[in-house]
Amino acid sequence: MFAFDKKDSYSFSFTSPDELRLYLEQNGYEIPFSKDLAPLSNQVEITAPNGEKKILKNALATHPMEGCDAELDGSPSDLTRRRYERFSGSGAALVWAEAISVVPEARTSDHQMMFTEKNADAFRRLVDDVKKNDAFFVAQLTHSGRFAKNSDTPHALFATKSLPFEEKRPQDVDVPVLSDDYLDSLPEKYAKAAKIAEDAGFDAIDVKACHQYLLDELLSAHTREGKYGGSFENRAKLMLDCFDAVRSVLRPETVLASRLSFSDMIEYPYGFAVAEGKPVTPDLTETKKLLEVLTQKGLSLVNMTMGSPYFNPHINRPYNKGAYEPPEHPLVGLERLIDGAREIQTAFPNLTVIGTGYSYLREFAPYVAAGALRDKAATMIGFGRMAFAYDTFAKDMIEGKTDPRKVCIACSKCAELKKRSLHTGCPIRDQEIYLPLYREHCMNNK
Ligand SMILES: Cc1cc2nc3c(=O)[nH]c(=O)nc-3n(C[C@H](O)[C@H](O)[C@H](O)COP(=O)(O)O)c2cc1C
Repeated sequence: MFAFDKKDSYSFSFTSPDELRLYLEQNGYEIPFSKDLAPLSNQVEITAPNGEKKILKNALATHPMEGCDAELDGSPSDLTRRRYERFSGSGAALVWAEAISVVPEARTSDHQMMFTEKNADAFRRLVDDVKKNDAFFVAQLTHSGRFAKNSDTPHALFATKSLPFEEKRPQDVDVPVLSDDYLDSLPEKYAKAAKIAEDAGFDAIDVKACHQYLLDELLSAHTREGKYGGSFENRAKLMLDCFDAVRSVLRPETVLASRLSFSDMIEYPYGFAVAEGKPVTPDLTETKKLLEVLTQKGLSLVNMTMGSPYFNPHINRPYNKGAYEPPEHPLVGLERLIDGAREIQTAFPNLTVIGTGYSYLREFAPYVAAGALRDKAATMIGFGRMAFAYDTFAKDMIEGKTDPRKVCIACSKCAELKKRSLHTGCPIRDQEIYLPLYREHCMNNK
């Protein structure tokens, strides 16, 4: 039996939704809960820059998750297509494609997807597959900056020095930061990639700024000198220049989106949207300032996230087992993610905000998701690890038939595969492809 204490056992031992609800109530969590699952079937409206309303069939989404299985030229492989058939076949109304690089030097591995003029047809096939399942498809444009790691790039591509990261990776201390000239060249690259994505048939383009990848790292570049560091205006400059460049080449009916770290949860002055002079605490003042500008420029879809999988993964995706024992109960992490989404959704009621972090809740996730939708703490709820694990999760959640034998168990094995740049998926629930890889490369501390 579980104990009624926030700091107690981190194991997940709830045996019924009512048990979870009671636990949340008795321990003072502000985590919404609804036995009525109807909100999961809410139709969702997303407004394009020309005012056109896109109608989505329900309020569930799959989150972007890198699969490290693209061909060397950046096009989706058969295995990539298999993943997206599963995501779109899950019944979720929206599929948010994983990080797709805008330039070769910034790939996280030789097998990260990348948009080029030569591989546009391969992306068109991927889009066709997803469209067969009637899903709205978002392309995530990225430059992986600090986390670039591929055969052509000898070292990470930093936008700013960051003590907390350098303490973990002392070999990075002497690596120079990217020049203003290099950063100046990027908006055009984002625009080119966005056009390829739109021509391939994606419904929305995400200018990604999260997890300390380049554009988010710049948002936190309080200590960088020159036009891309210091003031809020300077730190937000490249994000806004890329957004403008993307918008200028797209048709007005293509939705503008962003996966945004609402807070990096990395100590000031190294993190974006954290309180100064306090133990690490989210402060969404600058997040709102940024969203104010972006929504005026036509942003209508935002996928919330926090933290960085490379620095504080327990913030980013509450887990039971992971790289380290989390310093807080995973439900505290989930509550923070829900609070963040709620704060932004309340400040921007017309923005389609997608909530994050729910996979930790296993078969009880639909009740919390329905509660969050009912309370307008988000407009849609996204699932990441759950989508790797459970190929019909959205249909089953909507029908109230979530199968405990198929759910994600928050064991971080997918993240271990990703960390090693191996084909990434769920070794527990999708064993045919991913268990042999996990056995060969990750077991016995390999
Ligand atoms: C293996 C793996 C790969 C991920 N890749 C991406 C990515 O490409 N882009 C992104 O924005 N988030 C990425 N994420 C974060 C997820 O989108 C999501 O925010 C996180 O897993 C928490 O949601 P969940 O609790 O439903 O899993 C990744 C997560 C995992 C586990």
